[in-house]
Amino acid sequence: MTYDVVDHSEPRRYLELIGPEVRERIELVVAAASVGPLDREPVDLLYIDSSHEREHTIAEVRAWQPYLRPGAPVVFDDYIHADYPGVREAVEALGLEGEQRGTLFVYRHPCV
Ligand SMILES: C[S@@+](CC[C@H](N)C(=O)[O-])C[C@H]1O[C@@H](n2cnc3c(N)ncnc32)[C@H](O)[C@@H]1O
Repeated sequence: MTYDVVDHSEPRRYLELIGPEVRERIELVVAAASVGPLDREPVDLLYIDSSHEREHTIAEVRAWQPYLRPGAPVVFDDYIHADYPGVREAVEALGLEGEQRGTLFVYRHPCV
């Protein structure tokens, strides 16, 4: 599932690049990421690449955290981007311990 507040045309073009057996498993949702998973199902991986603003990023993590499976990675895009200090600020404000991988930050939801 991918969430975006804008109904961009590009994701539908991405879907044309993949096979039907993968495409049928992907859902494009037009909504703020801070609503959390609309289906309330457990989440294996959360990749955050939205507004990059501190408060939005904090709200997104809090909304999805209850649904993360034990050990699920939470990946923050543009963690070290000079134009988006809000991502790093959010990680620090939430006290998330993880590791920087290139331009990303990866936190793993605790196993218990
Ligand atoms: C840097 S783009 C990344 C888009 C996507 N990851 C891709 O590679 O095509 C950031 C996206 O976040 C969306 N966005 C902004 N605020 C958001 C929010 N609060 N919740 C969900 N998406 C948001 C924007 O509309 C924009 O499409």
